[in-house]
Amino acid sequence: MRKIDPQTVQRILDTADIVEVVSDFVSLKRRGANYVGLCPFHSDRSPSFYVSKSKGICKCFSCGKGGSAVGFIMEHEQLSYGEALRWLAGKYGIEIKERELSAEEEQAQTERESMLAVNDFALNHFEHNIHSTADGRDIGLAYFRERGISDRSIERFHLGYALEERDALYNAATAKGYSEKYLVETGLCTRSERGGIYDRFRGRVIFPIFGLSGKVLAFGGRTLRKTKEIAKYVNSPESVIYHKSDVLYGLYQAKKAIVDHDRCLLVEGYMDVISMHQAGIEYVVASSGTALTDGQIRLIRRFTQNVTVIYDSDAAGIKASLRGIDMLLAEGLNIKVLQLPEGEDPDSFSQSHSATEVERYIKDHQTDFIRFKISILLPDTEGDPVGRSKVITDIVRSISVIPDSITRNVYIRECSRLLDVDEKVLALQVERYYKENLVKGTASQSRQDDRQQQPELEKETPPTPPNEEKTASANSVASFMRPYEKRVLRYVLKYGMAHLCDLCDEEGNTSPVNVIDYITEELAADDMTFSNSDYASVFGAARALADTTWEGDRAAHESQARAACTAALAAADDEIRRNADSTAAITAMSEAARTRINAEYETSVSNFAMLYIERRLGSSADDTVRRLTADLVSERHQLSKIHTKYSTIETEEDRLAELVPRAIYEWKDAILAWRQRTILAEIRRSGSMDPEGLRALMTRSLELQRLRAELARYLGERTISPRK
Ligand code: CTP
Ligand code: MN
Repeated sequence: MRKIDPQTVQRILDTADIVEVVSDFVSLKRRGANYVGLCPFHSDRSPSFYVSKSKGICKCFSCGKGGSAVGFIMEHEQLSYGEALRWLAGKYGIEIKERELSAEEEQAQTERESMLAVNDFALNHFEHNIHSTADGRDIGLAYFRERGISDRSIERFHLGYALEERDALYNAATAKGYSEKYLVETGLCTRSERGGIYDRFRGRVIFPIFGLSGKVLAFGGRTLRKTKEIAKYVNSPESVIYHKSDVLYGLYQAKKAIVDHDRCLLVEGYMDVISMHQAGIEYVVASSGTALTDGQIRLIRRFTQNVTVIYDSDAAGIKASLRGIDMLLAEGLNIKVLQLPEGEDPDSFSQSHSATEVERYIKDHQTDFIRFKISILLPDTEGDPVGRSKVITDIVRSISVIPDSITRNVYIRECSRLLDVDEKVLALQVERYYKENLVKGTASQSRQDDRQQQPELEKETPPTPPNEEKTASANSVASFMRPYEKRVLRYVLKYGMAHLCDLCDEEGNTSPVNVIDYITEELAADDMTFSNSDYASVFGAARALADTTWEGDRAAHESQARAACTAALAAADDEIRRNADSTAAITAMSEAARTRINAEYETSVSNFAMLYIERRLGSSADDTVRRLTADLVSERHQLSKIHTKYSTIETEEDRLAELVPRAIYEWKDAILAWRQRTILAEIRRSGSMDPEGLRALMTRSLELQRLRAELARYLGERTISPRK
C-alpha cells in the first residue's frame, strides 16, 4: 500500500461535493441554504441531518455526527483517512498518484494488514468448520444448539469451531499462501521450543472479536469439556492489532442499537451478549471478563452516556468490580447497576424470559450506584462502627469523582438519607476529595462541552469558575478557560481569512487585517496561549495554513475567478449585442451585466477566503483537528438578533469587527479573574503570613481589579481599536 501524494489529496478534497457524497447514502431535501435528511448515524424520525453545500460539511443536530466529505465517509463506511480518500477518488474518477512509503511505514502497514488478513482467513476457516465439517456440526454446532443459541445468532456473531487437531488451521492457511510469521504474530499458531507448530485453538467453539469497523481483531475459544483442569476460555494474545483494553465484545453488532436506545448494558461474558441479542435486546456489550478499562469506557462514551452494569447474582466478583463503576462515574457517565435474581446470569435470564420481561426487570430493578454500593458493602459492617465509617468514606470518594456538581449533590442527599449521616458533613467531605482530585488531575473535567455540540455551548455567559481554593492546577485552569478559548478558536475556524478591519498606521496608510492575524497579534501582545492542548493544536494548524498555502491558493483562486469573470463578460456582451436594438440599450445592459458579474467575482473571492480554513482543517488527516473543526464550525450559533427599522437581521459575519475583539477581551478578563481568584484564596489562607507579604498580595489583587475595570469599560464601549 502506498501513500497518496499531497496534490492528489488536495484535488480529491476540492472535487468532493458534500451534497453529492452524502446523497449516496441519505436522501436529501433542500431547505433554505442547506439540505436536510434523516441522519444515517442514529435512528432519526424527523430530519436532523444538515448538509451545507457551501461549507462542505454535514452535521446531525441530534447525535452530533458529521464532518467534511472525508469525515463523513470515514464515519459512515468505517474507513481510515486514506481509505476514505480512495473511496472519494473512485467516486469522482480521480486518478491517484501515490508516493512511496518509507520502508518503515511500509512495514507497519503491511504488518497490520497481513495480520488482519490472516485473522479473516481464520474466521472463515472456523465458520466453515462449524457448518460444513462432520466434527464441527456434531460437536460445535450441537453445543451452541444445546445452549439455546439460534442459527441466526451463530451467523450474526460469526461463531465457529476449531477442530480437535494439532495444526488444522496452520495447514489450511499455509496451503493458501499465508505466511507462518503472521499466523504466529496473531497468536493463531505457536511454535514450540522443540520446533513443532500447533494451533492455539483446538477442539473449542470460537467467538470472533470484532473491532468497530468490522474487522476481526482476535478470537476467544471456549472448551466444551466440563473439567476444571483446562482453562474455560483461551483468547488471542495482545498484538499490534489487538489491544484487549480498547475492545468491547459485541460492540460492532450493538453500536447501532446503543445509539438508537441511547443506552448500553454492560455484561461479563460472550455468552451473555449473544443470548441478550437473541432475546431482542441488542444494546449489550461485554468487557470479556476483564475489569473495565479507560479505553473501553471511552468507547462506550462515543455512543451513549447511559450505562447499566449487570452483575451475575454471585456477589463474589462484585466487590472487585466496584472500581470500574468509579471509573464510569469519573467519565461523567450516568450509571445504573443491576443485580440479577439468585442463580441467574444475563445468559440464563434472557433465555428464560421474553425481551419485554427482561427490559421490565431491568427497568424495575436497576438502581443507582450509591444504593448498590451501600447494599453490597454495608451488611458486612453490622456492629462495627469503624467498618461503617470506612464504607461511608468509600462512598464519599465515589461521589467526589463525578464531574457534574448537581449530580454530586443529588448523590450526597441520597447518601445522607440512606446512611443517616448529616448532609452537610457529607458535602464537606465530598468537596474535600473533589478538590484533591482536581489537584491530582484525576477528575475528568471539561469533557461535557466537547460531547454536546449543541447550542448551549454558545450561551453568552461562560460558566462560573470552580470553587477552587487551592493553587490552580493546570487542569482546572484549562477547564476554566475552555469556553473563552473555544469562542475565539471558533472565529478563527469560521472566519480566519476573512477581512476584519482596516488598520491605520502613523502615516495614514491603511492596510486590511484578517481575523486570524488580528487574533494572533492580540494573543502575542499579551503573551497568551491556548491552555487547552486540543485547541492549541487546531489553532496551530490554522496558523500554519495562513502562513504557508494560503497565499498561493488564494492567488490561484483569484486568477481562476477572474478568468471566469472575463469569460462571463464576453458571453454577456455577445448576448446583449445580438438582442439589443439600440446603442443606448447596449450600454445600459452591458453596464448592468458588468456590475452583476463583478459582484459575483467579489462574492466568489470572499467566500473562498471565508471558507478556506474550515474546509482545509475539516478535511485534515489529523483526527483531533478534523473533528474539532467540524464540531465548532457546525455549531448553531445563538446570535442576538438585531431588528432594525427595516427588520433586517444582521448576521454574525456582519458584526465580526465587534464580536471578535469582544471575545478576545472576555478571554483576557477571564485570565485576570482566575489570577485574582488565586490571590484572594492565598490571602484567605495566609493567617500567619508577614504583613509585608500580605500587602504585596493585596496590591496585586487591586492592580488586577483595576485592569479588569479597564477591560470592562472597553467592552462596554463596544468600539474597536486594533493594535498598531
Ligand atoms: N473469560 C476468559 N477466560 C476465562 C474465563 C472467562 O477470557 N478463563 C472471559 C470470557 O470473555 C468470558 C467472560 O470472561 O465470556 C465471562 O466469564 P464466564 O461468565 O465464566 O463465561 P461465559 O461467557 O458466561 O461462558 P459460559 O456461560 O459458557 O460459562
Ligand atoms: Mn455464563
